[in-house]
Amino acid sequence: MDAPVVRPRLAAPGLAAPGSVNLPDATETDAGVRMAALLGRATRLADLRAALDAVTLEEVADAARFSREGYARVLLARSEGAEILILGWLPGQRSLVHDHGVSHGFVKVLAGEGVDDSFALEGGRAVLVERTGFEAGALLEERPDQVHRVANAGSNVLITLHAYAPCLRGARTYDE
Ligand SMILES: [Fe+2]
Repeated sequence: MDAPVVRPRLAAPGLAAPGSVNLPDATETDAGVRMAALLGRATRLADLRAALDAVTLEEVADAARFSREGYARVLLARSEGAEILILGWLPGQRSLVHDHGVSHGFVKVLAGEGVDDSFALEGGRAVLVERTGFEAGALLEERPDQVHRVANAGSNVLITLHAYAPCLRGARTYDE
């Protein structure tokens, strides 16, 4: 018998990931200029990882936004090969189950605490395989083949800083 086909939904480039809200870019702010400089210096994935890990909440906090409609995404900087976004999550907000297309991602947790659920694709749906907690100071990795879901599991806001190389497009969401 043929295995059931997983039918992910493809998010159109530039559109908000389902469950999230894309707010206006902050590329002209101090935080945006700082992150553009960071992208300019980081030419390898390892450099990007190290540079992102060194960013503090104080450097970018002014650009963080929140929405009751869903977790809020703000673009801070984009180059030809990579981009940096700051995400604001109110208590209880979470992403859908998703992958990252061909992008490699790093996530610096700047404030709050959350959970990162990892999924396997089985029988046409995403099946939870592992739940990992994280808190401010952590650096998470999002591999291109990784299917996961992030949630604010705390009672305060969660602020995360995301770097993707190449720029995120073609990410897909999955039914659980
Ligand atoms: Fe992700």
